[in-house]
Amino acid sequence: MSNPDIANFIQQAFEAVRIKSDLKPRILIVLGSGLGGLADDIVDPVRVPYSDVPGFAVSTVHGHAGAFLLGHLCGVPVIVMQGRIHFYEGYPMWQITLPVRVAHALGATAMIVSNAAGGINRNYAVGDVMMMSDHINMIGMAGHNPLIGPNDEALGPRFPSMTEAYDASLRRMARQVAATAGINMQEGVYFGLAGPAFETPAELRFLRAIGADAVGMSTVNEVLVARHAGMRVLGFSGITNVARLQADEGEPPSHQEVLEAGPKIAPKMLAIVKGVLAEWK
Ligand code: HPA
Repeated sequence: MSNPDIANFIQQAFEAVRIKSDLKPRILIVLGSGLGGLADDIVDPVRVPYSDVPGFAVSTVHGHAGAFLLGHLCGVPVIVMQGRIHFYEGYPMWQITLPVRVAHALGATAMIVSNAAGGINRNYAVGDVMMMSDHINMIGMAGHNPLIGPNDEALGPRFPSMTEAYDASLRRMARQVAATAGINMQEGVYFGLAGPAFETPAELRFLRAIGADAVGMSTVNEVLVARHAGMRVLGFSGITNVARLQADEGEPPSHQEVLEAGPKIAPKMLAIVKGVLAEWK
């Protein structure tokens, strides 16, 4: 499906949020698995449920609340996406990524994004935090990209570069923060696919062969739109399970396992993100 008049949707959603808060956020933070606890640290948050924002889809996945939170975190004005929409929920790409467009319209010039992912790199263990150095967009390669359709030059260029999708200077900052806090942070390539079925062992061997370190069902669409809009991006994956590259190896992955790994990941991811915010210039 080609995109509708995105600018019109952005404007309507923008107005619905502005009525509730006049905060001008500098950073959009997308709370995936691992960063949920960040919501509790926001000073004087204004909550705007997605159901109150025209054009927004409402998440159907257990564990994903759907609301914007606007407030201050470590002294920085932020807008937080508490919950996101995944492609496998059946919504069109432009709608999945509309909250990123609206956050940008409200003032955000950077995005910190997080997700749960399966570890493919043999050195990764459940509970690890991986900073995203790059991604492979399998959904996009299969022809589903939020930038497909007529391009509105006011929103971004027709052919945006993805050479540095994940901002090098922000990654340097995060590396320093992690080292100072004594956190052993991994860094690698996130492979984004549609889901909702987990991968077969043969698919996982394929992903490893082509250079993926972790695999998940979100994030790449938000990153494409954020980069199209000129936002700087920093991304983190929480490794909630490790890939079974052979069918007879360990237990199959489950959503329960993904939820259970959260407490191991959250303190580290929170410390890194707060450390980065504290140094934000
Ligand atoms: N595969 C895809 N998505 C995921 C996984 C996985 O193993 N773990 C968490 N999200």
